[in-house]
Amino acid sequence: MTADTTAPRRDTFHADRARRYDETIRRVLPGYDTLHALSAVMLETAGAGAAARVLVTGAGTGTELDVMARRNPGWHLVACDPAEGMLAVARTRLEEAGLDQQVSLHVGITDSLPPQAPFDAATCLLVLHFLPDDGSKLALLQSMARRLRPGAPLVIADMAEDPGSPRFRHLLTAWTHWQEEAGIDRQEIEKGLRHIERDIHFVPESRFSALLTEAGFTPPERFFGGLLFTGYLCHRTLET
Ligand SMILES: C[S@@+](CC[C@H](N)C(=O)[O-])C[C@H]1O[C@@H](n2cnc3c(N)ncnc32)[C@H](O)[C@@H]1O
Repeated sequence: MTADTTAPRRDTFHADRARRYDETIRRVLPGYDTLHALSAVMLETAGAGAAARVLVTGAGTGTELDVMARRNPGWHLVACDPAEGMLAVARTRLEEAGLDQQVSLHVGITDSLPPQAPFDAATCLLVLHFLPDDGSKLALLQSMARRLRPGAPLVIADMAEDPGSPRFRHLLTAWTHWQEEAGIDRQEIEKGLRHIERDIHFVPESRFSALLTEAGFTPPERFFGGLLFTGYLCHRTLET
């Protein structure tokens, strides 16, 4: 595992949270495992190639690494994430599954990756909504665009919603009900709502699409929807 000294903006994904992440995320994100399985399918069918080198931004505890490596023994995955505790969980998981030879882990943001050949595909699952729209979202998208070959597919999952809209308020209410029905206690639901209010930088889907275009990607096409969480496919534009 390589490392740089780039500190994360806020220690949202500290080691203690990392240990609980895999259980928590499956209880609060409707269709989390389906999102990851479909993300792999979308890349496989969008021209990644059988021997693809895949850039995995914000790999966290490694669900997408596990899913993609199992399904595609010919792929090599380069994963980055500034949260060391999250990548430590990913490393153990990959070693236990015998998949570690297919993956390089790097503690840091995408821009801190050592220079290497252009990637054939990329993922950025549940990461962008943590960054403010003050140039940070654009910088992350550009850092991926610069590292992809023209035409390469990107799957990106985000909470791209307008927080002032009736649709948003409805989705939030529906999400609360869904969690209650799943047996999550009131305190934990309230904690999740506070996390959203404090840590998520929402932009409407139109702005999300404009940011992707500005960074050098084609307009996003939806392939997954789970209340507030949406999965999209786009491609690095052909002109570089
Ligand atoms: C909600 S987790 C998602 C993890 C994983 N992709 C998944 O689907 O479960 C968000 C991850 O993004 C990472 N992250 C935050 N800012 C980042 C950045 N600028 N570049 C790369 N990763 C970042 C966090 O450290 C965290 O591990």
